[in-house]
Amino acid sequence: MSAPSADLPIRPRRLRLHAPLRGGLSEVRLSRGDFIVPVFVRDGSNVKREVSSMPGVFQMSVDVAADWLGELAEQGFAAFIAFGVIDPQRKDPAGSAALDEGNVVCRLLREAKSRKIPMAAISDLCFCEYTSHGHCGILKADQSTVDNDATLPRLVQQALNHARAGADLVAPSGMMDGAVGALRLGLDAAKFSDVAILSYSVKYASAFYGPFRDAAKSAPQFGDRRSYQMDPARGIREAIYEAELDVRQGADMVMVKPAGPYLDVIAAVRKKVTVPLVAYQVSGEFAMLEAAAKNGWLDRDAAAIESLLAIKRAGADLIISYFAPLLSKILPR
Ligand code: PBG
Repeated sequence: MSAPSADLPIRPRRLRLHAPLRGGLSEVRLSRGDFIVPVFVRDGSNVKREVSSMPGVFQMSVDVAADWLGELAEQGFAAFIAFGVIDPQRKDPAGSAALDEGNVVCRLLREAKSRKIPMAAISDLCFCEYTSHGHCGILKADQSTVDNDATLPRLVQQALNHARAGADLVAPSGMMDGAVGALRLGLDAAKFSDVAILSYSVKYASAFYGPFRDAAKSAPQFGDRRSYQMDPARGIREAIYEAELDVRQGADMVMVKPAGPYLDVIAAVRKKVTVPLVAYQVSGEFAMLEAAAKNGWLDRDAAAIESLLAIKRAGADLIISYFAPLLSKILPR
């Protein structure tokens, strides 16, 4: 028999012995109000098509999407963010369909307003879902990359369409320099000073967006997005620089994306900016857990909750997650 070592009067396990006490001591809690629900909206009526790489996630027509969002709103989810899925035949190099006031995103926004769905309506601002080449804006003449300054006025037009249709927030996701400033000016000039800007400020060129590009049919047809999205190999300073730039230009909230593999970035940006921080648990993060669970390798519900707790613990105020429908079943009311 060996004598107890000197530090054994101190036993952290004592407080882990009783489940109710563990519950009382937990510091991070998830509730439906922490979540923004992504929704893929497409043409037609009564359409609900599952995305093959994202089990339980659907492309929906406006009617189906509005019914679904109405149910989630009743359960207390904070907001939805809408992405348009359009027929490839309607895509062109300029992404003109993005500026059509009759497109599916504008129609969903109007429908949500007319039904008075009690959730904040956020619209994703980008052109990749509408351009034939799949890049996030107008290309330069030599096709080498997106033309930043030629894309900005079009982003403003897209934002004004969405604001008129009922968007409460617009979310530029294309990583164009100066987008937040241009949007703020444009919205204010058109008397939409109450429409807020959630900027995808810190968005990495990530392989984890694969399933989304499948869902939104928005994969680049050539090249990649590295000439506008951030390099995962750069450090924290660039993330802070991007977030601070957007706050200075008038961003009401900033986003870090992806979330799970970038918890260090979330924590660092959280320390530096005082506006609310949104983290986007992206399609690939979701698909990985779903795929492992399907193989019986993970307990899906437990892994989903743990992944989201980690994102909140790192400092996210709100989380965009494809697990929202699951949470509507498993989180306590
Ligand atoms: C761009 C946009 C993308 C996502 C959200 N907005 C894709 C991209 O940059 O290729 C990805 C989200 C996800 O993977 O869940 N409009």
